[in-house]
Amino acid sequence: MKKYFIVTAIIILGISTLKAQNTDQNMPRLVKKGQSVQLWVDNKPFLILGGELGNSSASSADYMKPIWPKLKKMDVNTVFTPVYWELMEPAEGKFNFRLLDDAILSARKNNIKLALLWFGSWKNSMSCYAPAWVKTNILRFPRAEDKNNVKQEILTPFSKNNLLADKQAFVKLSEHLKTFDGKMHTVIAIQVENEIGMLPNARTYDAGANRAFRQTVPQLLLNYLKNNKDNLLPETKAIWAGNGYQTSGNWEEIFGKSLATEELFMAWYYARYVNEIAQAGKKAYNLPMYLNAALNAPGKKPGEYPSAGPLPQVMDAWKAGAPAIDIFAPDFYNPDFKHWSDLYTRSASSLFIPEIRFEPGVDAKAFFAFGNYNCISFSPFSIESTQKPEAEPIGKTYHILKQVTPLLTRYNHADAIRGFLCNKDSSAQKTTLGNYVLTITHEYKLGWEVGAKNPVWPQTGVLIINTAPNEYYVAGTGVVITFEPVLKGRAGFLSIDEGSFINDQWVPRRRMNGDQDHQGRHVRIPVDEYSIRHVKLYSY
Ligand code: DGJ
Repeated sequence: MKKYFIVTAIIILGISTLKAQNTDQNMPRLVKKGQSVQLWVDNKPFLILGGELGNSSASSADYMKPIWPKLKKMDVNTVFTPVYWELMEPAEGKFNFRLLDDAILSARKNNIKLALLWFGSWKNSMSCYAPAWVKTNILRFPRAEDKNNVKQEILTPFSKNNLLADKQAFVKLSEHLKTFDGKMHTVIAIQVENEIGMLPNARTYDAGANRAFRQTVPQLLLNYLKNNKDNLLPETKAIWAGNGYQTSGNWEEIFGKSLATEELFMAWYYARYVNEIAQAGKKAYNLPMYLNAALNAPGKKPGEYPSAGPLPQVMDAWKAGAPAIDIFAPDFYNPDFKHWSDLYTRSASSLFIPEIRFEPGVDAKAFFAFGNYNCISFSPFSIESTQKPEAEPIGKTYHILKQVTPLLTRYNHADAIRGFLCNKDSSAQKTTLGNYVLTITHEYKLGWEVGAKNPVWPQTGVLIINTAPNEYYVAGTGVVITFEPVLKGRAGFLSIDEGSFINDQWVPRRRMNGDQDHQGRHVRIPVDEYSIRHVKLYSY
């Protein structure tokens, strides 16, 4: 009898393993959970604690050798690494995947995942990574032109030849990934192009573009506008309503004569181009695909900044025109982190940050982003430039975030997580979470720390997860949190423990009920300390 059960169990196990292989459960994918989207890797929710390489590092496997251990030291779990079209297809139709394969093998050795950056037709507006056989054949691969018809080193998206050449290379890349990595899934996402954006005018004036600008607005976009009339982003609404909600005519007839119309027009055609590439790539190997944007500097007009990339003001065009792109992502080199994060999460439930300036305070922003925006990716740019990986605040932060990832992904669909950034100038921030109203301040606001006298305070940040009516996990650096019951009375701490998650189990270490919580008055994580506190409260 016992033997029978064992045999049956083995058969069932075998069948389910087979099934898992057939449906490829381990394929990296985006999964909708409630209102939010999760990235699943190796069949479980995954948060990218990433780092993007400087542009040229990945062009030499040898140069990369000492970088891998640095990344490991910072607990980076995903490296954003370029794939350069010019090096991958140096002669038309002749492909070389040596650099990519080497990156994949090195990543595997270090137990790190990769997100690939397809430096194809465009890299920061320009076409600097197009192969020489593309760059030198302007007739076959036409360029964008400015108002005076001066050609730019920017491939125009109004050329079938440009699209075809890029698409063929991208499909080869996808096919290669399927063969080389289709079982191990080291590569978990692809960025299709890099910071697309039109310069030096809001649109290109090449012949193809001029023709398209005079033609009627494509039906696909018009249908999107009509079907989503009540839910359009305010910028789209403004430009369409401003001209009386026209539904037929060319771009200026429908949206009026303005730079905003030109940017929308450009965004639409960039989107269609990228969509075709991403769609073809996914057909070969269905990885999550995203596209990043260079955020426009305040006060600049379209054409003065790299225009028409997946920016908030033209996001409706991108969503309608490029459904094969799963996520549109901001690159943060702009100080107003909250402002742009809010804009990107108007029309998306999760924030994906492929690049953020690697500077002091980036650690605090990571806590804030994962706590406040259902963030699925965070990644300082040129992360390998650090000389002291073991002392990097972002490494200490990732060490904490790695531990709370299971909690973050378990609770992020419920209204159970908050994130905060604290500066010298920010006033106390309040939030209702579970049974309590929480007040969050910078640690130096207590006034008794020596550092509080410094003219400049480090930016600090925290995320708070409410796991039971009277229970919280607090992870971050440099904050003080007080609690009051939502209903009535006062809050007291039963316990505040500092500890860690080991194999997903909470292991308390220090009990913090004396000076560390000011004798039961607050939860505090000092500046320069990165840690997790488990907090249990009662009210009286
Ligand atoms: C954003 C780009 O996407 C990166 O490739 C790099 O050029 C950085 N800017 C440099 O700051």
